Amino acid sequence: MAYQSHEIPENFLAKWQDTTNVMADIFDVPAGLIMRVLPSQIEVLVSAHKPGNPYEADEKAKLNTGLYCETVMASRALLHVPNALHDPHWENNPDVALNMVSYLGLPLLWPDDEVFGTICVLDNKTRNFRDKYVELLWEIKKSIESDFKLIEQQERLLASNAELLAAIAQQKSDAAKLQQSNEQLNLALSTLTRMQAELLRSEKNAALGSLVAGVSHELNTPIGNSLMAASTLQFHVEEFAGQMEQGLTRGQMREFVQTVHQGSDILMRSLGQAAKLVGSFKQVAVDQASMSRRSFNLAATVDAILAALAPAIRDSGQQVRSTIAPDIVLDSCPGALGHVLSNLLDNALQHAFVDGASGCISIAAEPDTGQGVVLRVSDDGVGIPQADLGRVFDPFFTTRLGHGGSGLGLHIAYNLVTTALRGSIEVSSAPGLGACFTLTLPQLTLAPGGNAAVDSAA
Ligand SMILES: Nc1ncnc2c1ncn2[C@@H]1O[C@H](COP(=O)(O)OP(=O)(O)OP(=O)(O)O)[C@@H](O)[C@H]1O
Ligand SMILES: [Mg+2]
Repeated sequence: MAYQSHEIPENFLAKWQDTTNVMADIFDVPAGLIMRVLPSQIEVLVSAHKPGNPYEADEKAKLNTGLYCETVMASRALLHVPNALHDPHWENNPDVALNMVSYLGLPLLWPDDEVFGTICVLDNKTRNFRDKYVELLWEIKKSIESDFKLIEQQERLLASNAELLAAIAQQKSDAAKLQQSNEQLNLALSTLTRMQAELLRSEKNAALGSLVAGVSHELNTPIGNSLMAASTLQFHVEEFAGQMEQGLTRGQMREFVQTVHQGSDILMRSLGQAAKLVGSFKQVAVDQASMSRRSFNLAATVDAILAALAPAIRDSGQQVRSTIAPDIVLDSCPGALGHVLSNLLDNALQHAFVDGASGCISIAAEPDTGQGVVLRVSDDGVGIPQADLGRVFDPFFTTRLGHGGSGLGLHIAYNLVTTALRGSIEVSSAPGLGACFTLTLPQLTLAPGGNAAVDSAA
């Protein structure tokens, strides 16, 4: 039966003890009881503390023995026996043996309508309980039954409390697991970052290796030409010295001067080319001056760079326009930025306008979402073929080989933007529609892992 799985809390038992005591007083009987039925027994749950009361709490009796309470539970109705000794049906019931000859009892029902037991009073003499007493017993029964409801509700609350506690404990252990896997993820991430740094370092070494190989290869031609010119000169000088011993003709002298002229010409051009290559190569490694960092006004700095390039711009006949708002301040390396801009402008002047065509080069800037600046250098010249777009930043990529192009200008710009300026550079172009170089430059004060080597006072 459902109620049997419920433990009756101590505070209710104490309350019912008081009720039963008062009830026995009012009914003026020695025995006032609350009985509970068990699977095969009936138990005295609460017994009034009264002199002459033969029942003790926890006492149990067998069922099917003809007890008054058994009839009450079976009929679920009031039972009033004024005197068992005058009633053949009751004269032999077990309570008569205890001298309890009169009985008034009602069934107690659990909230699910199962029979819990009884509430009853017993006396050792004839009792004709009047209606008022019967009504009172009904009231006591109802009060105990509403206590049953409270007990059940409390148990439900306790159960859902326990569920809540279990859920909280589960959540805690989930959180601990999450924390653990988070730590593992962090560990994996730092391993990855370390590996990435190592990769980058080895990649840089490889890039440096190919750069050195490239430079050696590029220097080979001018230096080879110089050597050839020098040894030819040497040969002619020795020949001339021999001819001097025998006396020189005017024609021999003229031929010698012409040979020296040609030789020194070749030497000058080849060594000049070599010197330019060495100069560019030096710039590939970001130099210290370019790294000096400070806050500066972008428009003013760009104007200063344009002023320095004014002669070259004037000679080219192209128009250069800067539309940078006067209030943009950038914390970055102005030296490096100047270097990048002059390489980009130089390229636009060199490559964008062919066969005397004239056009316009514009420099614009706008604040970036990340508080930095997006700078655009664009021209309306011939543009860069799709096939070349992915290679323009590669060292030694040039379409002006043999015409003064080393192919290092954009490589240097890329290095400066990504290292000294901690930004990025991209190119977009369509043939005939010009080229546009987009630089995204952060405020170095805000950039994560700000470079300690950078001199902010410079
Ligand atoms: N604004 C531009 N318009 C068209 N082509 C361009 C432009 N800028 C760069 N290029 C192309 O990109 C190539 C690489 O440029 P980069 O500056 O690296 O080398 P370069 O200018 O050829 O040589 P150097 O810079 O040493 O004089 C150029 O040869 C050219 O083909
Ligand atoms: Mg260039």
